[in-house]
Amino acid sequence: MAKITASVYTSHVPAIGAAIDLGKTQEPYWQPVFKGYDYSKQWMKDNTPDVIFLVYNDHATAFSLEMIPTFAIGCAESFAPADEGWGPRPVPVVQGHPELAAHIAQSVIQQDFDLTIVNKMDVDHGLTVPLSLMCGQPQAWPCPVIPFAVNVVQYPVPSGRRCFELGKAIRRAVESFDQPLKVQIWGTGGMSHQLQGPRAGLINKEFDNAFLDQLIADPEGLASKPHIDYVREAGSEGIELVMWLIARGAMKDIADPASHVRVKHRFYHVPASNTAVGHLILENT
Ligand code: DHB
Ligand code: FE
Repeated sequence: MAKITASVYTSHVPAIGAAIDLGKTQEPYWQPVFKGYDYSKQWMKDNTPDVIFLVYNDHATAFSLEMIPTFAIGCAESFAPADEGWGPRPVPVVQGHPELAAHIAQSVIQQDFDLTIVNKMDVDHGLTVPLSLMCGQPQAWPCPVIPFAVNVVQYPVPSGRRCFELGKAIRRAVESFDQPLKVQIWGTGGMSHQLQGPRAGLINKEFDNAFLDQLIADPEGLASKPHIDYVREAGSEGIELVMWLIARGAMKDIADPASHVRVKHRFYHVPASNTAVGHLILENT
């Protein structure tokens, strides 16, 4: 059977993608950001999974106000980097895993989560920047990726509780797939940031670090945090953090005292563009 081996959490700031693509990672502004991912790139090489299930949000690139799926699973053979206004990022096309994606869609919908099935989709910085941070600049990404897009852009957006429970359903789906695949689940976006209005530029280090602490030790409690707390404390775009609860919910059940997660890496840095950068790697024990 397939199993979830680890989860990765990271911010997805578009300027990070531009810094990589334009060869600026060693500039004084960017060097401390990328240093936080040196361990992660080596860890990825040492722990390359068979598939990455990548939870992210689309930023009005593949979807728009014309169509807003709450949860969309990418079932295509491949996903091209999107043109976000400056041409597509010069990164590899993302190869999907249609067989596992279709199985997860079947299983999760049977568990009463109504996913939107997407058979054609371009992927924006929400997905490509985490891949670049974790994998560097390879000719091809190291394994297939199943994109899982969550609406955190246009209200109503899903609650943290819904996301956490969905993660548990995804775990059950993966564990019922009849091939011995090692699957990582990534939760991306965040941390605190607000891109518009009078509070543009808001960053809240205390909130972010408490979020990381609780995501590790008490995800069940964190899942009850209401939207208004994210928006007030972490800014309007801080709501992207609910996606981290999907990945955390897919890890071994915290109610089972024998199953603790191992914190392999933790990193926090301010600022990168308008955003606080947070990053965690958790392994199932
Ligand atoms: C920035 C951050 C984001 O999450 C995003 O989607 C766009 C811009 C920023 O920090 O500039
Ligand atoms: Fe974003």
